[in-house]
Amino acid sequence: MSPRTAQTSAPILESLSNRWSPRAFDANHEFPEGALRGIFEAARWAPSANNVQPWHFIVARRGTEGFAQIAESLVGFNQAWAGSASALLVAVAETADEEGNARPWAHYDLGQAMAHLSVQAQSEGIYVHQMGGFDPAALKAAFNLGENQVAVTVSTLGTIAESADHLPEMLQERETAPRERRPLEDIVTIAA
Ligand SMILES: Cc1cc2nc3c(=O)[nH]c(=O)nc-3n(C[C@H](O)[C@H](O)[C@H](O)COP(=O)(O)O)c2cc1C
Repeated sequence: MSPRTAQTSAPILESLSNRWSPRAFDANHEFPEGALRGIFEAARWAPSANNVQPWHFIVARRGTEGFAQIAESLVGFNQAWAGSASALLVAVAETADEEGNARPWAHYDLGQAMAHLSVQAQSEGIYVHQMGGFDPAALKAAFNLGENQVAVTVSTLGTIAESADHLPEMLQERETAPRERRPLEDIVTIAA
C-alpha cells in the first residue's frame, strides 16, 4: 500500500484505491507499441445512453508533433508539469448526432469512459492525470474537430518519477499531501 492509497470506510477495488493523479511523471518512460490498447478497450466498453458511445480520444506520445500541440493548449500551472508524461490524451465528447440532434448525456458518458480508462490504466501500472486547464478552441483547431465535437479534458499518461524534486515547490507539496474526500454521510442520502 502506498502513502497515497485511499483510506476507505469499506473495502474497494485496489485499482480504485491505488489510483491518484500524480504530476511527477517519469520523463524517460516510453510506452511500447500497443501498450495503450487495453485502456482504450476499457473506455470502449463503458455504458452510454442508448449505447451511442459519444466519445473520441486523441492520443500522442511525447516527442511527437501531436504531443507538442496538445501541450501548447495547456494553461497555467499545467504547463509546468504535464510535458514529462509519456503521452497526452484529449477526451472529446460528441454532443450531437449527424442530423444535429442533441446528445444530452454526452459529457456524462465521456466521463464514464474516462473512469473506465483510468481504472484499467491503474491496474496496468499506468497513471492518468485528467485536466480541465487547457484551451479547447486551440485543440479544436489543431485537430480539426467537428462542430459537435468538444474537447472536455486533457490527460497525462505515464509512470511516476522517482522524485518530484523537478516540480515547482507548490506542486511538490501536492504530490505528497494527504488525499481527502467528503465523508460518505455527506454524499449519500438513504431514503427511507
Ligand atoms: C475534470 C477534471 C479536471 C481537472 N483539472 C485539473 C487541472 O487542470 N490541473 C491539475 O493539476 N489537476 C486537475 N484535475 C485533477 C484533480 O485535481 C484531482 O483528480 C483531484 O484533486 C483528486 O485527486 P486524485 O485524483 O489524486 O484523487 C482535474 C480532474 C478532473 C476530473
